[in-house]
Amino acid sequence: MRPRAREDERGISPSGREGDTLPAVAEILMGVTGGIAAYKSLDVLRILQRHGHGVSVVMTHTAERFVGSASFAALSGREVGTHLFGDAGQPGYHHLDVTGGKDLMLIAPASANTMSQMATGAANSLLTSCYLAFRGPVVVAPAMNTAMWLHPATARTIETLRADGVHLVDPDTGLLADGAVGPGRLAEPAVIVAAVEAALAGTAAVKDMAGVRVLISAGGTREPIDAVRYVGNHSSGRMGWALAAAAYDRGAEVVVVQANVDLPRQPGIRYVNAPTAREMRDACRAEFTSSDLLLMCAAVADYRPVAAAGGKMDKAEAESLTVALERTTDILAELAALRDDQVLIGFAVEHGPDGLGRARAKRDRKAVDIVVHNDAAVAGAAFGGPDNIITIIGPGEAEIALPRMSKRACAEHILDAARPLVPARTVSA
Ligand code: CTP
Repeated sequence: MRPRAREDERGISPSGREGDTLPAVAEILMGVTGGIAAYKSLDVLRILQRHGHGVSVVMTHTAERFVGSASFAALSGREVGTHLFGDAGQPGYHHLDVTGGKDLMLIAPASANTMSQMATGAANSLLTSCYLAFRGPVVVAPAMNTAMWLHPATARTIETLRADGVHLVDPDTGLLADGAVGPGRLAEPAVIVAAVEAALAGTAAVKDMAGVRVLISAGGTREPIDAVRYVGNHSSGRMGWALAAAAYDRGAEVVVVQANVDLPRQPGIRYVNAPTAREMRDACRAEFTSSDLLLMCAAVADYRPVAAAGGKMDKAEAESLTVALERTTDILAELAALRDDQVLIGFAVEHGPDGLGRARAKRDRKAVDIVVHNDAAVAGAAFGGPDNIITIIGPGEAEIALPRMSKRACAEHILDAARPLVPARTVSA
C-alpha cells in the first residue's frame, strides 16, 4: 500500500485542509458472484477507484449472466478473470497470478452458493480458488433473497466465515428483487467501501498513528443512590471499544478509561476502571496531560445523587421518594480548558430533528475540535448495537454525514478526521 491524499465525496479533505496524507491506497481483488445485485458492484468499483485504490475483478460464470465482464473491464481498465486455467477449454488464469500483489479481497455481492463453497474450502471456480490462495484480509458483502438469508444453512456458513476471520458486511433490510421486503439486500456501496477501508486500516501495513498517545473514555457511569442502587444509562461501551481497537491497530498507544463495560479486554491496550462520574473525571485528568488525542466517548452522568446512602435504603412508608441530584463536572469542557496542544473529540447523542444543530452548538460551547453526532431516534443508531449512523462535525467547517455502518468503520472515519490534527512531533510513522 502507498500513502495518499484523500478527499471526501465533496472534495473536502477530512481535516478541511488540503494535502493531508492518509494511508491505505491499496490493490484490491474484487470478486463478483451471481445475483441481481451484481450491477451495484460497478458502483463499489468506482468509489474504490475514486478513493485511489486499484481494483482487479474476478467473476463467477453466473455473475456474467447478470453483468457482462466488459463493463468491469472498461471501468477497472484491467482484464477481468472469469475462469481458471484449463477451465471451459480456454486459456484462463492461474489463481496465484491473480492474488499476487493484492492487499485485500472483496466479494460483493456474495451469493449463498459461493459463500458455502468458501466455508467448506471448495476451489471449483477462479473466485473460490483465489479466496483459498489469498492470505490478506477478506471482506464479504452477501446478497440474496430473505428466505435464503434466514435459512439455518446460510447462518452456519456465515458463522464459519466469521470464525475464519472474514469481515462480513451485513445485508440491508428492504425491498428485494422478488418483491419481498426483508433482510438480504446488498449493503450500500459506500458502506461496503467503508468496510474495505476499515479492514485495510486493521492490516499491519497501516500504522499512521504510531507514537500517538490516545485516551478514550468508554461506557456509562453509574451514580450510587445507596450501596445497591444507582442512576445509570444504556451505554454499552461498543463505540469506545471500536475506537480503541482501531487506534491500536493504527499503531497508537491506547488508554481506555472505562465505566461499567462488559466487553472483552484487548491485549496491548491499558484499561483504567472509572465506574462513576467522579472517578471518570479523576482518571481522565490524570491521563490527559500525557495524551495527544482525547476521544470522550463515555456517557457520563450529568447529575448524581447528592449524598449516596451508606447502606441499603429501607422502603419508606411514603408512596413516593425524591432523590436529590447535583450536577457533575463536565469533564470534556474542563479538559478543553486545561489543554496544552491535545486534540479533543466529544460525542453528542441527540434525539430528534434539531439534534445536529445542538451537536454543532455543543462543539463551540465545550471548545473541542470535533463533535461526533448520532441521533438516538434513528433505527440502527441506538445504544448497544453493532452499527452506528454518525455525522462528524469539524474540524473547522468540515462536516461528514456517514450512512449506517459498523462501529469499527465509524471509528476509522473518526480517526481519519482526527489524525491530521495531532501535532506532528508525536508522529514517528
Ligand atoms: N461529557 C463529559 N462530562 C459530563 C457530561 C458529558 O465529559 N459530565 C461529555 C461526553 O462524554 C460527550 C460530551 O460531553 O463527549 C457530550 O455529552 P452530553 O451529555 O451530550 O452533553 P451535555 O453537555 O451534557 O449537553 P446536554 O445539555 O445535551 O445534556
